[in-house]
Amino acid sequence: MILKENHSLSNYNTFKINVKAKKFVEIKSIDELKIVVENYSEEKILFLGGGSNVLFTEDYDGLVVYLNLKGKSLKEIDSDFSEVTANAGENWNELVNYCLENNLGGIENLSLIPGNVGSAPIQNIGAYGRELKDVFISCEVFDLENFSFKTYYLEDCQFEYRNSIFKKHKNLIVVSISLRLSNHNHVINSSYGGIEKELENKGIDKPTIQDISKVVCQIRKRKLPDPEKIGNAGSFFKNPVVNMKKMESIKKKFYDIPHFKISDTEYKIPAAWLIEKAGLKGKVFGKIGIHKTQPLVLVNYGGGHGKDLFKLSISIKEIISKIFNIDLETEVNII
Ligand code: FAD
Ligand code: EPU
Repeated sequence: MILKENHSLSNYNTFKINVKAKKFVEIKSIDELKIVVENYSEEKILFLGGGSNVLFTEDYDGLVVYLNLKGKSLKEIDSDFSEVTANAGENWNELVNYCLENNLGGIENLSLIPGNVGSAPIQNIGAYGRELKDVFISCEVFDLENFSFKTYYLEDCQFEYRNSIFKKHKNLIVVSISLRLSNHNHVINSSYGGIEKELENKGIDKPTIQDISKVVCQIRKRKLPDPEKIGNAGSFFKNPVVNMKKMESIKKKFYDIPHFKISDTEYKIPAAWLIEKAGLKGKVFGKIGIHKTQPLVLVNYGGGHGKDLFKLSISIKEIISKIFNIDLETEVNII
């Protein structure tokens, strides 16, 4: 374990923002984690996984801990279900592929989401009709406030759309997660966003979990910019949720606004549509901008500053609020 000073974080965030951490350490075991938190408890600490959901707006004046705990295992719960356990530093998509290789169903719709396993519960990752909570059993958490480990079960985690207890309580560090996956009779979810159409084009009428994964990967590669080529952190904003009364009043002015019923009283509106309708899709401002095919994604074309991306996000919020009277909420963690 080597403590580095004034360490560049440009390879530790997918926005590729070139800021420095006053101190930086990579941790590969629980023992190292204990040593670090005991010795640096007076410091401001940031735990980082793949850096695919953060925006650094300035140098980090504290200790950045890259939590690189590896290891995963598999055990049968009964003839129908298995439990997969993975440590925080495992790559999420590699875990998905490992489950697919073992023909375990439940996270195939979450294929190709960047980042590490330990970050998956933080915003209850979701895509294509599935969320982490749908398969979540528990996670092991290290509490920085009392230096102790605790198991958080599904009911403890307060999972919501892109939210959890861990977003509110930054003292809780996820060190491993356990998921419950099906051994057979997999529940196939192909209802969301073009999966069905894509399967039809391929002539697949009884898709396997492997087919679903392949199709999800294809759609994602088509729609979302690859962070290896253009710096980004996926959707910058959450899709806003409004009540029925508000939905009716917006529809009067914007009759073609897409909206999806998510409960008896609430609708979700695609923020991408709002940003496109506001005429902002594809706009470039120097080295940063709003992506040309997915306007929910803010991008760094190279050499852009986090502060400027943050300012751009504020301007977008103001414009959307003025036109639609809707307050966009930021999904990305601003640091
Ligand atoms: P980081 O960016 O490293 O961390 C995110 C936050 O979690 C930070 O606040 C960090 O301090 C905290 N954190 C990290 N590790 C821990 C830990 N072990 N314990 C406690 N706190 C921790 N997200 C979706 O939900 N669905 C998508 O479809 C999706 N698509 C994406 C597509 C692209 C191209 C990109 C770039 C991002 C996308 N995201 C998506 C967002 C991102 O991939 C997820 O939020 C992912 O879980 C972040 O993982 P990470 O390891 O990179 O987290
Ligand atoms: N749309 C437009 N213009 C565009 C693109 C999209 O109007 O240029 C509208 C369309 O109405 C479209 C709708 O937006 O039907 C939804 O678009 P898409 O299916 O691409 O999904 P999204 O709402 O933009 C959400 C998640 C993604 C997740 C996908 C698939 C949020 C904030 N984002 O995006 O998650 O991968 O659905 O499930 O919920 C992330 O969180 O980082 C992320 C990428």
